[in-house]
Amino acid sequence: MTVEQVAVIGGTGEEGLGLALRWARAGIGIVIGSRSAERADQAATRVTELVPGASARGLENPDAAAAGSVVVVAVPFEGQATIYKSIAGHLRQDAVVIDCTVPVAAAVGGKATNVLGVWQGSAAQQAASLIPKGVQLCGAFHSLSAVALHDLNSSLEGDVLVCGPRTAKPVVRRLVEAIEHLRFVDAGPLDNARIVEPITALLIGINHRYKVDRAGIRITGLPREEQAPGPAE
Ligand SMILES: NC(=O)c1ccc[n+]([C@@H]2O[C@H](COP(=O)([O-])OP(=O)(O)OC[C@H]3O[C@@H](n4cnc5c(N)ncnc54)[C@H](OP(=O)(O)O)[C@@H]3O)[C@@H](O)[C@H]2O)c1
Repeated sequence: MTVEQVAVIGGTGEEGLGLALRWARAGIGIVIGSRSAERADQAATRVTELVPGASARGLENPDAAAAGSVVVVAVPFEGQATIYKSIAGHLRQDAVVIDCTVPVAAAVGGKATNVLGVWQGSAAQQAASLIPKGVQLCGAFHSLSAVALHDLNSSLEGDVLVCGPRTAKPVVRRLVEAIEHLRFVDAGPLDNARIVEPITALLIGINHRYKVDRAGIRITGLPREEQAPGPAE
């Protein structure tokens, strides 16, 4: 399974740009999506400045969503539904959409260490309800700190729990494994996003208590073939 290009909706922001930088480094073409063509261009330029030889361009969100078959959405929960409504009609029928949204209570003025109840069960399930039937959606990358993603001199560590339809997971696995030392963990159907998303709120609290900026998660006891490659000896 190869992924040649990924569109990142909200790719001007902390998490989306961090993921884009890491994927650009892995040789994956980047399309940055934004509500503003100018901001999209600026972020794409940033990718090419920070990752020599990277292929990156910026487009408004609907055009970015139409640009390829892998679309990552990394926007704040308060804007999530509006963004999905703006891109839904532009997604390719064969697209795999990967949602990173965490419904932190900060979206409504509450604490980032608390999560909101979402009618559909989770932000990812809300997203799935807003895209055309047949377009596959997974939830993933919730536990990766944007600070760590942007720190291109440091390797990442930990697991990425991926929820969603089985047939979409090879694409997501490829994107996880394109970022060195990260491990893909199949976290089951999209319904499980209601368990996975709140872990980020827990990690935000752990970051505060330990005065760090990149707490993550690791699942133990998995079979050997699921072990992430360690740093080079
Ligand atoms: N930051 C992290 O460490 C982290 C870690 C894991 C998961 N996440 C999740 O990833 C998502 C993005 O987080 P982030 O920190 O990258 O957010 P962010 O930087 O605040 O926003 C990302 C982008 O979304 C767009 N946006 C901002 N507010 C919006 C609104 N009200 N409506 C529509 N679009 C809006 C903006 O793009 P344009 O203005 O260019 O359109 C912005 O650059 C969130 O759901 C967050 O919970 C974040």
